[in-house]
Amino acid sequence: MAKLRWGVLGTGTIAGTFTRGVAASQTGELVAVGSRTQESADRFAKEFGIARAHGSYERLLADGEVQAVYVATPHPLHLEWTVRAMKAGKHVLCEKPLAMNRGEVATMIEMAHAYGVLLMEAFMYRCHPQTEKVVELVKSGVLGRINVIEATFSFDNPFDPNSRLWNKALGGGGILDVGCYPVSFARLIAGAVEGKPFANPVTVDGTACIHPQSGVDVTADATLRFANDLVARVACGIGRAQDSSARIRGSKCWLHLPEPWLPAREGGTVSLFIHHTSAAAPEEIRIAAPPLYALEADAFATALAAGRREVPQMTTADTLGNMAALDQWREAVGLVYDADRM
Ligand SMILES: NC(=O)c1ccc[n+]([C@@H]2O[C@H](COP(=O)([O-])OP(=O)(O)OC[C@H]3O[C@@H](n4cnc5c(N)ncnc54)[C@H](OP(=O)(O)O)[C@@H]3O)[C@@H](O)[C@H]2O)c1
Repeated sequence: MAKLRWGVLGTGTIAGTFTRGVAASQTGELVAVGSRTQESADRFAKEFGIARAHGSYERLLADGEVQAVYVATPHPLHLEWTVRAMKAGKHVLCEKPLAMNRGEVATMIEMAHAYGVLLMEAFMYRCHPQTEKVVELVKSGVLGRINVIEATFSFDNPFDPNSRLWNKALGGGGILDVGCYPVSFARLIAGAVEGKPFANPVTVDGTACIHPQSGVDVTADATLRFANDLVARVACGIGRAQDSSARIRGSKCWLHLPEPWLPAREGGTVSLFIHHTSAAAPEEIRIAAPPLYALEADAFATALAAGRREVPQMTTADTLGNMAALDQWREAVGLVYDADRM
């Protein structure tokens, strides 16, 4: 199969990570980069050996060689540049969260259908075989009846008003940046319990610690209740180190994922542990895989080559449900962004 020709929109941290992922993928090649400045585009192109460097996003979208655009800007810009890319006939892999709220996601999905292009939210952990294995274990019944999911994604980042993470106008805060992962994981597992691709919570209650200067959530917790009595306790943070892991508790035993979000990022082996109540030591399941972001690029290109309208690892209906749950979490803690007022 011919390689998918990618263009990267934005030259920040994750743009570089994804670019390395495409280079390690089976299916893709990076042909162009677009930045708000020519200088940054040139620097990025030189660092990653990309043929064409565009000094504006518009010029990247006008590049006829580019088939798929990877949107790597701060979240409030995802809607505009994803829609503009789709209007230019490009397929789009856009960073998480796909947008600021459910309403924006609905618009993006409508546009993807209207322009007949593929759209995916870049939840790379969904493309790793560890996630597939967890779903398989849940469905197999080995854990028994699943009652509780616990999942956290949190890191300690010092307050920096220049960082997008601490800037409310740029969508800063934990719920949108990392809270989206545990919520998506809980919905995935709650769905697997019922043999479905995902399930949406009936209620979402939450608390948050809001940073006094920036107004963004430094840490936040939520309880998601699903129709089948399953409860998920999720947590996130951008200003506090916590155990970024996940646990699925069943009536027979519990499953521990020490690395749910960034499993063997550069490729290699990751371990899952089943804790049987009667056993002295947990059962280890080892999973080997290529680099994480290469898997994401391959999942996208494979779906496209197969003529699919969705990437099965992260469908747009799944994204819509995730965004709705994040809206509920933010509503519970009183966290409102400018995009919510539009
Ligand atoms: N999936 C993952 O593992 C992962 C990890 C980290 C972040 N992310 C997501 O990726 C997105 C970008 O995060 P990041 O950490 O890469 O951010 P970053 O390092 O701050 O880079 C963002 C880039 O967006 C462009 N940009 C456009 N308008 C901007 C503005 N007004 N202010 C600042 N930058 C602007 C800039 O590129 P130019 O100057 O070239 O235009 C900038 O380099 C976020 O939505 C985040 O949630 C995903």
